[in-house]
Amino acid sequence: MNILILGSGGREHALAWAIKQNPKCGRLIVAPGNAGIAQLAECADINILDGGVVATFAEENAIDFVVIGPEAPLAAGVSDRLRAAGITTFGPSAAAAQLEASKAFTKEICDACDAPTAAWARFDHAADARAYVTKMGAPIVVKADGLAAGKGVVVAETLQDGLDAIDMIFGGAFGDAGAEVVIEEFMPGEEASFFVLCDGQTVCPIGTAQDHKRAFDGDQGPNTGGMGAYSPAPVLTDAIVEQTLAQIIRPTMAEMARRGMPYQGVLYAGLMIADGRARLVEYNARFGDPECQVLMMRLGAQALDLMLACAEGRLDQVTPQWAEDHALSVVMAARGYPGAYDKGTTIHGLDSQPETAHQMVFHAGTAEKDGQVVATGGRVLNVTARGDTLAQARARAYDMVANIDWPEGFCRNDIGWRAL
Ligand code: AMP
Ligand code: GLY
Repeated sequence: MNILILGSGGREHALAWAIKQNPKCGRLIVAPGNAGIAQLAECADINILDGGVVATFAEENAIDFVVIGPEAPLAAGVSDRLRAAGITTFGPSAAAAQLEASKAFTKEICDACDAPTAAWARFDHAADARAYVTKMGAPIVVKADGLAAGKGVVVAETLQDGLDAIDMIFGGAFGDAGAEVVIEEFMPGEEASFFVLCDGQTVCPIGTAQDHKRAFDGDQGPNTGGMGAYSPAPVLTDAIVEQTLAQIIRPTMAEMARRGMPYQGVLYAGLMIADGRARLVEYNARFGDPECQVLMMRLGAQALDLMLACAEGRLDQVTPQWAEDHALSVVMAARGYPGAYDKGTTIHGLDSQPETAHQMVFHAGTAEKDGQVVATGGRVLNVTARGDTLAQARARAYDMVANIDWPEGFCRNDIGWRAL
């Protein structure tokens, strides 16, 4: 079958890598793709936020199955447009993707199905929000309601920080995404991520992971999109996974179906674990990045069968096969990230890297220029390895890092510390 993947990051490289290993995969196109993806798939530079453009491209190229990587095309309704054209598509409708695109929407769903999460309130005026934060006191969490590229959340440790966050968001820092503000109780605990596929009815767990959000070793420095990840997450014990499915995921999926917006795709639940139970921090309507890289490393070719079963409403007929293995990914980023950084610096040493079922360098932000790989983004490479133990996976990943020659890049040296 001919398959189209939308996106250009390490997540999409990992999806392409796993899908390509499946004998069902014929022609594989990634739009827009990157230099690493170009080594295993065709890349096509089309506007992936325009459902009409994507549907026409898919028809012209006899695409049988589309996998949508990032949230922006989901929120823009690209999956709705593709399904209307009769194209099998992995990714929720724009209505269902509100679970990521609107924090207030998710909180309402949680209230409606009694899913454990932080207490909350919503505001569309700064004065009311300020009065509420002043009454509740710090620590408190202030969020722009809409999509803000992962930057719309302030965990305020002081009352002043909370008030400043309200002013920043209502001041227009995130445009329309900040027209409404959600204010939440601060939840202490350890964070972990849980991934399930859902076909509108059946829920199929496909793994757990933890990432490292701060830029520097020891969880110091500014917040980033994620500097590394590993799977499984030991904090998500079987008992907590069961509780999460019973109290959070299944009730959410049932509530979505009841509202006439069944959820079809991968659901990424960000959880806070404390006192032996999980509460929901947030949902995302897509795979995490770099969490996807470790999940794909562990799932391999069966990822395609699972995503196809999800898109075709057959999840009740499939079961993921797990090796008792571990995977870990180290993000190499441009020096300066998440602040200002140089683009166009050259990366050497990639040709000699292993590309096996156990070790793979996924590209997140690269392009090819004059036969060389250059960095084009903040997070640039995801050096990923698998092993019988987390320690083995980590040693393999850092061995690869040591052989990458990129003076303008940096990485954390302690990915996985919490679990080791
Ligand atoms: P979100 O985009 O909603 O996942 O928020 C980004 C990050 O802020 C999360 O990964 C948490 O680390 C933190 N966070 C969000 N909401 C809360 C909360 N209610 N309590 C504690 N931390 C939170
Ligand atoms: N790594 C966090 C995310 O993808 O949202």
